[in-house]
Amino acid sequence: MQEITDPQEMRAWSRAERSAGRRIAFVPTMGYLHEGHLRLIDRAREGGDRVVASIFVNPLQFGPGEDFASYPRDLERDRAAASARGVNMLFVPAGGAVYPEEPRVRVAPGPMAERFEGATRPGHFAGVLTVVTKLFHLVEPDVAVFGRKDFQQAMLVRRLVADLNFPVVIDVAPTVRELDGLALSSRNVYLLGDERRAALALSRALRAVERAWRAGQADPDALTRVALDTLTVPGVVPDYVALVDQELRSVSRADAATVVLVAARVGRPRLIDNVVLGEGVARDPVAAAAR
Ligand code: PAF
Repeated sequence: MQEITDPQEMRAWSRAERSAGRRIAFVPTMGYLHEGHLRLIDRAREGGDRVVASIFVNPLQFGPGEDFASYPRDLERDRAAASARGVNMLFVPAGGAVYPEEPRVRVAPGPMAERFEGATRPGHFAGVLTVVTKLFHLVEPDVAVFGRKDFQQAMLVRRLVADLNFPVVIDVAPTVRELDGLALSSRNVYLLGDERRAALALSRALRAVERAWRAGQADPDALTRVALDTLTVPGVVPDYVALVDQELRSVSRADAATVVLVAARVGRPRLIDNVVLGEGVARDPVAAAAR
């Protein structure tokens, strides 16, 4: 595995690879890689001849009271994991290389960013789409892989690419879970003691909704109540439950394509999870990844 820190070198490398006829698959990350990221890399290997992964904790997507400074970082471990999983190029730009000065122009994410994570974290998606735009310009990938756990982010990146004509295919990969159902997230390291067990309420709520839907309940309000009942346990503060379509619009009747979104604070971290009703919450993380 090679490593580049300089944005111009990154672009030159990609251009050389592409002019040699090789397809570039890209996995943007903020590091502290876990199995969820590594499955994105596996998918990227299938979708391209060269895999680029980036590690950059993007200050623009963190709000004033959020965890930018303390966001978990471990570059040595990330290097070893990325290399073992077959990454060809690790792009690790310094903050000053990505933002040499305070960026004045930002990507406006539009109405899809107004609800859910966007409502709780003002400015977050403008920060995400701005850095994704910059990374796409620097890496110039043919395909980029994002995880479905961050469903709103993945759909917004799809919108960005469609609306602004980026020549990139966006591949959205299934959520990878622990055996007990907890969706993998770098922020799970913040869960202390009993919070780890309490956090299972999110995937349990999704399963409860899925069961109720399979039993014939299609009313979004009734299904939301099912989720909220399951989420109402000590240590969990629900933020939202919503049943939406792929454009993040509320549905009037749940069907197989409906996505159930949940967010809750469990101790320090705010956790998010989701399920596509027709697919269900996989119990087996290997099965989940193979979908
Ligand atoms: O999902 C993430 O890790 C980040 O939001 C991303 C896409 C790497 C942009 O900083």
